[in-house]
Amino acid sequence: MDGSPADVRSGALAPHAIAASGLSLAFGGVKAVDGMDLRLGHGEFLGLIGPNGAGKTTLFNILAGTYRPDGGTVLIDGHPAPPGDAKARIGLGLGRTFQIPKPFPQMTVLENVLTGAQNQAGEHIWPNFLQFRRVANEERAAVEKAKALLDFVKLTPLMHEPARVLSGGQRKLLELARVLMADPKILLLDEPAAGVNPTLLEFIIGRVLDLNRQGKSILLIEHNMDMVTRLCQRVVVMAGGRFLVEGSARDVSRHPAVIEAYLGAAA
Ligand SMILES: Nc1ncnc2c1ncn2[C@@H]1O[C@H](COP(=O)(O)OP(=O)(O)O)[C@@H](O)[C@H]1O
Ligand SMILES: [Mg+2]
Repeated sequence: MDGSPADVRSGALAPHAIAASGLSLAFGGVKAVDGMDLRLGHGEFLGLIGPNGAGKTTLFNILAGTYRPDGGTVLIDGHPAPPGDAKARIGLGLGRTFQIPKPFPQMTVLENVLTGAQNQAGEHIWPNFLQFRRVANEERAAVEKAKALLDFVKLTPLMHEPARVLSGGQRKLLELARVLMADPKILLLDEPAAGVNPTLLEFIIGRVLDLNRQGKSILLIEHNMDMVTRLCQRVVVMAGGRFLVEGSARDVSRHPAVIEAYLGAAA
């Protein structure tokens, strides 16, 4: 084992939570992501910023397996992640939140969290038939876990309400609890604070910091620079589908190339 690409591909070293290389994706003639590399260290809290249209959401969706890139590779914890396979990502320990969460409106808050549970024996017909006791135990454990997660995001009082009664901010918290049901080691967060009131924003910041302190590696897309400055140890800036600069939040926000990119996008 000498740190060669073959070692990394085989997962022998697993030096990064995410190691993406040469990712590209065009929509028609538009190169939304154009030869992008990205590394997320184990336990790191990394910010991804850039002007509108920079390609952040497209990159995020490639990493999450929602989009299949035209080229490039993604390793998760050293393991090759099949392109365009969001479900396989969950098995590799990756969880993602949606910028605009869409809970099942008629299901209760608790039932929505339970939809995030993975590899439940009850999902398969045979174990259901043959091992009903095991299934029942697993379901009880899942409900206990979902309740603990609802406690973590302070939604316990709304547990038995249909999800449609939740505010936008509460839906973001429900989304977080749902994703945590699968015990992800890596979290991709797409603007978790957008459109959220200041009190809830502080609460979300605290919870996300807790998750990072528990050892989860986090990639955050966020426009709120105050939040990025408080949370992120390192910030990567994209523009025009490409890597622009990286550094601390303070340094990148003063960087001439970053200022120019934001001014250019606003023009
Ligand atoms: N599904 C899509 N179909 C066509 N063009 C898209 C699609 N998604 C994004 N784009 C284009 O790709 C570029 C990058 O978009 P996006 O990844 O949403 O940027 P950001 O999230 O940084 O604002 C933009 O020019 C956008 O118009
Ligand atoms: Mg976006």
